[in-house]
Amino acid sequence: MSIDTAKILVVVDYDSVKDLLRETLVPYGDVQFTTSPEVKLEIDRIGPDAVLLVQPEDGSGVELIQYIQNELPQSIIIFLTEKQDFALLRDVVSAGAVEYILLPDELNLLNDRMEKIAELIHQRERKLDAAVAGQPFARGRGKVYSFYSGKGGSGRTLLSTAYAQALKLESANRVLLIDLNLQFGGVETFLSLDTNRSLADLMPVLHEMNENHIRNVTQREIHSKLEVMLSPRDAETAEQMTEEFISRLIRASRRSYDYVMIDLPTHMDELTYTALEESDLIYYVMNLDTPSVQSYRQVENLFKQLGIDTAGRLEIVVNMVSKHNELKVADLKGLLPAPITAEICLDQAGVQAAVNQGVPLQKTANEKKLGPVAKDIRNWVRSKLT
Ligand SMILES: Nc1ncnc2c1ncn2[C@@H]1O[C@H](COP(=O)(O)OP(=O)(O)OP(=O)(O)O)[C@@H](O)[C@H]1O
Ligand SMILES: [Mg+2]
Repeated sequence: MSIDTAKILVVVDYDSVKDLLRETLVPYGDVQFTTSPEVKLEIDRIGPDAVLLVQPEDGSGVELIQYIQNELPQSIIIFLTEKQDFALLRDVVSAGAVEYILLPDELNLLNDRMEKIAELIHQRERKLDAAVAGQPFARGRGKVYSFYSGKGGSGRTLLSTAYAQALKLESANRVLLIDLNLQFGGVETFLSLDTNRSLADLMPVLHEMNENHIRNVTQREIHSKLEVMLSPRDAETAEQMTEEFISRLIRASRRSYDYVMIDLPTHMDELTYTALEESDLIYYVMNLDTPSVQSYRQVENLFKQLGIDTAGRLEIVVNMVSKHNELKVADLKGLLPAPITAEICLDQAGVQAAVNQGVPLQKTANEKKLGPVAKDIRNWVRSKLT
């Protein structure tokens, strides 16, 4: 990797300093900006190779370095501050920053340092490659895809289960499906699973959650061996869950799997919010009717109010497409800014029969006799894999 392709995350709260850094960093490829209150929520999703952290006004820089080190031990942290302070310099370096740069005097040093950073990233990558040699897949950051909608009954649970199943069958990826409908569940119905274990069993290991803990609570779908983490299906248990738990659950999952699929409820609370923030991609499921368009608009506003930035990571999935829809897909294109990633047809009889018999829509790789919904979903998954 060269410095042009390295992912750089700049954490800065002041606009003036942000402008200054933006100019300095023009030659470098992938530079993203965030603020100190946001960085904890975004760091894992972005997964930067290097972090430039400007000391926040509240002096939380050292604590943030420790946090970032802990979450992403491979990333290289550079600390920038406007104050010359030796005690701070010592703390910052012992927390794990590789450089301490004084602003604005030493800004010209930054360009020099970027070369050094490139070399460091390169070295770390080689070490990492060596560490995983012999393993079939490089461990690291799996992708997190959430299925969300502002309207109930639009098809999230059917689509998330069938998508995860097809992804598992059609590729060699390690796939985990998580049901975050904490009160009512739903995934178990479409995949015919039956276990008392649920993600709530991970609450006691919140701080040390690892792959073994996760595997202990998942159940495998018998045809595909897709791993599924069921919901506790209990309001009281759901109430005890915290944002921290959800965010640690998702982060631990993405360290152990290539893809983590999440089925979300319509209900927006801090847990749904956390899952959306942790997602690399949000599949927004909608139907071809006016209520769907209205809920989409409401969700758009809600995301804005909550500060959920969906730029480049929200795609629309149109479900239950038939001749009798009130709207056409072409109408949606004019109404909504987000890209439409897939169209899934309506097949009431086929889907109902599968659910009643307790069999998933697709059972084997390359299956020949697929129903129309499963076919659409497989095409969608394949289009994402290439
Ligand atoms: N493309 C489709 N063709 C036929 N039936 C479908 C299709 N998509 C979903 N359904 C059916 O519609 C109903 C609602 O789907 P699903 O439960 O997946 O929606 P949801 O968005 O998860 O709803 P909830 O708000 O209850 O969580 C289910 O009975 C499902 O089998
Ligand atoms: Mg559902």
